[in-house]
Amino acid sequence: MSGCPFLGQKREFFKNKVLLNEDEDESQKGVNKASKGGIVYGEYLQLDKVVTAQVLQSELKGNKIHDEHLFIITHQAYELWFKQVLWELDSVREIFINDQVRDERNMLKVVTRIHRITMIFRLLVEQFSILETMSALDFFDFREYLTPASGFQSLQFRLLENKLGVADSQRVPYNRRHYRDNFRGHENEILLRSETEPTLLQLVEKWLERTPGLETDGFNFWGKLEANIEAGFKIETEKLEQKQQSEIKEEMMEDLSKQKEVFTSLFDEKRHDHLLSKGERRLSFKALQGALMIYFYREEPRFQVPFQLLTSLMSIDTLMTKWRYNHVCMVHRMIGSKAGTGGSSGYHYLRSTVSDRYKVFVDLFNLATFLVPRDWVPKLNPSIYKFPYIAECYDSSYFSSEDSD
Ligand code: HEM
Repeated sequence: MSGCPFLGQKREFFKNKVLLNEDEDESQKGVNKASKGGIVYGEYLQLDKVVTAQVLQSELKGNKIHDEHLFIITHQAYELWFKQVLWELDSVREIFINDQVRDERNMLKVVTRIHRITMIFRLLVEQFSILETMSALDFFDFREYLTPASGFQSLQFRLLENKLGVADSQRVPYNRRHYRDNFRGHENEILLRSETEPTLLQLVEKWLERTPGLETDGFNFWGKLEANIEAGFKIETEKLEQKQQSEIKEEMMEDLSKQKEVFTSLFDEKRHDHLLSKGERRLSFKALQGALMIYFYREEPRFQVPFQLLTSLMSIDTLMTKWRYNHVCMVHRMIGSKAGTGGSSGYHYLRSTVSDRYKVFVDLFNLATFLVPRDWVPKLNPSIYKFPYIAECYDSSYFSSEDSD
């Protein structure tokens, strides 16, 4: 007899459980469907290929190193997620290319899939921490076996960059050479093709150019905004001029004139084109206007989903930058400033890629520079001007971007 009162209760409990009639045990109800034939788990997922694809080079060379398994699994997991990101990205580009976004109902699908990409990237940014449980010394033990293999040769990573819209002219050269020179044959062709296809950036640009409300013979957002900003600055200047002469007043005047300059540049199309040619802006002048309009009227039902899309696009850029940053930090920890297995300067090369040069939607970030007080934003009078939904929405010929959903 145990002295523990709890143990006594436990015995009672198990005794009752055994006494349960098998027919009454809810947890055991069900039929084993797999016994009747059909595809089973392992076949469906082709696990025979997936879980046998971890070949340790160290083992082949007769010096099995435990951590090489983690190294391979981590890279494979990244590549699988890259594949899913490309899957989502291609489907979104397809919807834009086929002009299906003209039907606003397809925008939910676009936003959902772009958001999914951001969720995957959140995971990928964090995933390096698992590989970081491997020490630099453990990595050193098998590193020589994988030369000249390198993440630099990841086809899917380059496709991802190209399809999003990373500018070729903005890429950091790799040992003074073009990144594509490291890919041969079929892979080189696939990359070349991806450079000629419409990028997500270009597709979003065309879509932004059609933002309802930009029409000069309609709501004329841009014309109205320019007039309001001019009037706003005039009032601010007059208010300041009435103040007593002082050092603070001088500073405020200087500040105001700097702010005015910023906004003068916003409306200067020639300057915009100059920045475009330097790669400092990526969106057309018209598309920039559309994006700013969506920012200002984001609470309007018509603009809520477009605003969510712009927010997610910025998140992709932010997360890609975080990915590059986490990767380079890990590389520094693993190999210090040694050259990479692929042949680059390693840490120094990678550090130069953590830069705005690789941001695709950089203009969306910069828009925050041009936000103005709410009362400067052109007023909407719903009884005079409504942002019309695209006609197809009310059309019985509506079709979803895919038959399957
Ligand atoms: C111990 C872990 C790792 C080390 C030491 C490492 C090291 C490096 C180095 C030195 C480069 C520059 C190219 C070269 O000379 O080889 C590079 C590039 C790259 N690595 Fe890694 N890497 C590691 C893990 C990963 C993982 C898990 C991924 C996931 C897919 C990855 C993806 C990439 C990609 C995509 C590039 C090209 C980046 C660019 O050119 O912008 N790496 N890596």
